[in-house]
Amino acid sequence: MSVDLKSPADVEGMRIAGRLGGELLDFLTPLITAGVTTGDIDRAAHGYMVDVQHTIPATLNYAPPGYSPYPASLCTSVNHVVCHGIPGDRKLKDGDIINVDVTVIKDGYHGDTSRMFFIGKPSIQARRLVEITYEAMWRGIRAVRPGAHLGDIGAAIQRFAEGHGFSVVREFCGHGIGRRFHEEPQVLHYGRPGTGLKLQPGMVFTVEPMINAGKAAIRALADGWTIVTADHSLSAQWEHTILVTGEGFEVLTVSAGTPAPPPAPA
Ligand code: MF3
Ligand code: CO
Ligand code: CO
Repeated sequence: MSVDLKSPADVEGMRIAGRLGGELLDFLTPLITAGVTTGDIDRAAHGYMVDVQHTIPATLNYAPPGYSPYPASLCTSVNHVVCHGIPGDRKLKDGDIINVDVTVIKDGYHGDTSRMFFIGKPSIQARRLVEITYEAMWRGIRAVRPGAHLGDIGAAIQRFAEGHGFSVVREFCGHGIGRRFHEEPQVLHYGRPGTGLKLQPGMVFTVEPMINAGKAAIRALADGWTIVTADHSLSAQWEHTILVTGEGFEVLTVSAGTPAPPPAPA
């Protein structure tokens, strides 16, 4: 396994790409309301990336081995969709929850981030799932420091999510990121403390837990991309791109509208 350590110039490029990813979500936020289709969000995102940011939508025509080219400029995953939801004619309606996951490329560097949004008023369970998933991501991020292990991140996320009665999706994970969209290492969202790769300053990877209200099992739809919960329970996800620094971590995908971190646990 070879994990790339970013140079100072790489880190500067990743900071810019990361901020632009956050700013794209900021731009989309007011649009994500009842009556809008996920395709509308995709078209707005494409225009903003290409015409305003001069970034490239990394997901458009992205085709890892065994996949057909992904047909859109972002992923929109509504309710029981876990990830990789393809934008289309579906109208958002009151009570929906949606993950919007964007990856921009600027000067060759990738910035990958996602947030959850409520359409109108969420159910109590939906709100709780989204909030617990947000804190789970942050528990994982706060485990990042030189000398810590990848397993510390997964363990922190798993313990918190399962402690609240939710389950962690196993088949998808965080990933190294840089000039390539998906690099080593794989960042599992479950695991045991003290196991796995030891973290070093200069590593950059995403933390992006997918947490289900019901069981962890998933299945893929016939489009080859969309992943749903097998039991049709709600699923939530948040994502940031993280740099391992000399002291701890730096969140690269920050922008003016990035939600505040939750209070640090006592
Ligand atoms: N942005 C997703 C991630 O966090 C990957 C989406 S790939 C796509 O890794 F092709 F589905 F868009
Ligand atoms: Co993403
Ligand atoms: Co990612």
